[in-house]
Amino acid sequence: MRHFEYKNGEYYCEDVPLSTIAKEVGTPFYCYSHATLSRHYDVFDKAFETIPHLICFAVKANSNLSVLKIFSKLGGGADIVSGGELFRALKAGMEPGKIVFAGVGKKKDEIKSALEAGILMFNVESSQELLAIDTVAAELGVKAKVALRVNPNVDPQTHPYISTGLKENKFGINYDSAFEEYRQASALDNIEVVGAHMHIGSQITQITPFVDALDKTLALVRGLENEGINIQYIDVGGGLGITYNDEAPPHPKELAEAIAPLLKDSGRTIIFEPGRVIAGNAGALVTSVMYTKINEGKTFYIVDAAMNDLARPSLYGSYQGIVPLDEDTTSRKKVSADVVGPICESGDFLAKDRILPVLKQGEMIAVMSAGAYGFTMSSNYNSRPRVPEILVNGSQFNIIRERETYDDLVRGETVPDYLK
Ligand code: LLP
Repeated sequence: MRHFEYKNGEYYCEDVPLSTIAKEVGTPFYCYSHATLSRHYDVFDKAFETIPHLICFAVKANSNLSVLKIFSKLGGGADIVSGGELFRALKAGMEPGKIVFAGVGKKKDEIKSALEAGILMFNVESSQELLAIDTVAAELGVKAKVALRVNPNVDPQTHPYISTGLKENKFGINYDSAFEEYRQASALDNIEVVGAHMHIGSQITQITPFVDALDKTLALVRGLENEGINIQYIDVGGGLGITYNDEAPPHPKELAEAIAPLLKDSGRTIIFEPGRVIAGNAGALVTSVMYTKINEGKTFYIVDAAMNDLARPSLYGSYQGIVPLDEDTTSRKKVSADVVGPICESGDFLAKDRILPVLKQGEMIAVMSAGAYGFTMSSNYNSRPRVPEILVNGSQFNIIRERETYDDLVRGETVPDYLK
């Protein structure tokens, strides 16, 4: 249930027609459903109720403060990958003790801020990074809690750009050298080894890769404990896929049935870093048809949203559902069309060769499954102000991020005197 549906011929988010929001804020805009976000969080949480666990929402999927606040109020934490995400997580009221910090290139000032905040742990991705954390911790006179991100060399069977757990990927510490790396970490004065981390990729639609990677991680953890290196947290990362089109990913409950027994009596806290599975189908990008043109018999709907607003189709060739806001239009004659934006690139499309009803100028569509990696990956390319974000809760809606202005576009730019 994603709380986007037709009621009385109009497409609604919860109890608000999307056209009502469009009247107030114009198009394009992102719209998120509060009920869906909190329900997806709860479903995930419940699925793992048999094991001690912590859900650290992957902030990169959707970093709007109000969205993060929903999860912090539900008791969740954050998986962050930058100082900016740390700033957002703290500002949204996330407890520092529920924040984990991954990423292959943590800068010293980011490490310092995270240590000062007192985060739960760093998920360390290389031996040089470990030494950097040790150094910064020494400067601050604290001990840094770390997990090593282990690259288990398991194929997540997903798009190559979002596959992270193969040995040729830049992520994590080689499985074969992880043991030695742990030994070295535990010998460092300002490091406290507390966990083990894995994250093998995103939009994973099978259970086997999770089980295979976890088996390897657990074997490592057992070996470490025999050496007297105590692991309190096993962070299994994120990556569970969603249905964009006809994918049939496992339900969180099925994932839990497969992996909870492996973790049950471990006496450790299990950390999850879901992003897409919580936020993906909780959001849509609403856009208006500006023009239709037919080139060489091919129909193009030129809409007011573009690849700068939603990069996934052009970046990964992703499928995003397209739903007209006015249900009457769905009974019209169908055409095969590309839904494209105003940007000056042929890669600027939101849908390709899609069977859609004939749409008229000014009619609106919702680009679905855009709640994760939608707004967060948007940019100002072609000097297009970024679009507003709206949160619907029942019959109420709030602008949780304003549409940018032209002044926002040039904020921070200065012209040197000699050019004036
Ligand atoms: N943990 C770590 C360390 C990650 O790198 C990621 C995602 C997650 C958790 C959350 O993964 P999720 O549960 O959302 O699959 N922009 C791409 C997705 C990139 C994912 C990067 N890492 C997309 O739009 O498909």
